[in-house]
Amino acid sequence: MAVSDMISDPEGYFRNFIPERDDLLKTLEKEAEAEAIPIVGPVVGELLSLMAGVSGARRILELGAATGYSAIYLARGAAPVGGAVVSLENDPAMVRRARQNAEKAGLSDRIDIREGDARENMAAMDAASFDLVFMDIDKEFYLPALPHCRRLLRPGGLMIVDNVGFADAVDFNKALWESDNWRVVNLLTLLPGHSPERDGLTFAVKASR
Ligand SMILES: C[S@@+](CC[C@H](N)C(=O)[O-])C[C@H]1O[C@@H](n2cnc3c(N)ncnc32)[C@H](O)[C@@H]1O
Repeated sequence: MAVSDMISDPEGYFRNFIPERDDLLKTLEKEAEAEAIPIVGPVVGELLSLMAGVSGARRILELGAATGYSAIYLARGAAPVGGAVVSLENDPAMVRRARQNAEKAGLSDRIDIREGDARENMAAMDAASFDLVFMDIDKEFYLPALPHCRRLLRPGGLMIVDNVGFADAVDFNKALWESDNWRVVNLLTLLPGHSPERDGLTFAVKASR
């Protein structure tokens, strides 16, 4: 069987396919670059929005809001079904900025930024109260947050985890992979604008049992 030729310079080639976005999101990208705030960027942002939309998620939990960039994508994706995002953030300055940006996006009624440690906030939430979880806090907290994510997601719910290619995510990746409670796909991806551009993303569906 003939081996197909691959595109040369795939990084450069796929940089031609960055989704369009509005001025607010572009401003947040510029701020993130200037201040080294690690936001997901426009390709993963669009992916989150699509996943929220196709999954029909009404109740979305985000771990790690920063300036609210990814929360805006998630909330927009969930808009057709009237969905809403609860986003957990432990940096008070970021909480303020995320709330302001949600307001600028006209989404203050759909994005609820909650201040404090993600795990402490999650411990106080009802079981099975979310359809989709997006995990994007400091990577050493991924493993301790995993049991909370499992408890809070409804059976069949989707968890998307950013930056699983980072060394600090290794224990988390192992625990998730070895668990019978999840169906897991790990992707090492080239997604322009992601930080860094060659990084991991995991999609995990909570088992229905
Ligand atoms: C990678 S940034 C989030 C970026 C955001 N999801 C985006 O793409 O627009 C991670 C954020 O998580 C926050 N964070 C880190 N550890 C946390 C924890 N244990 N609980 C709550 N927030 C945390 C940091 O302050 C930071 O703002």
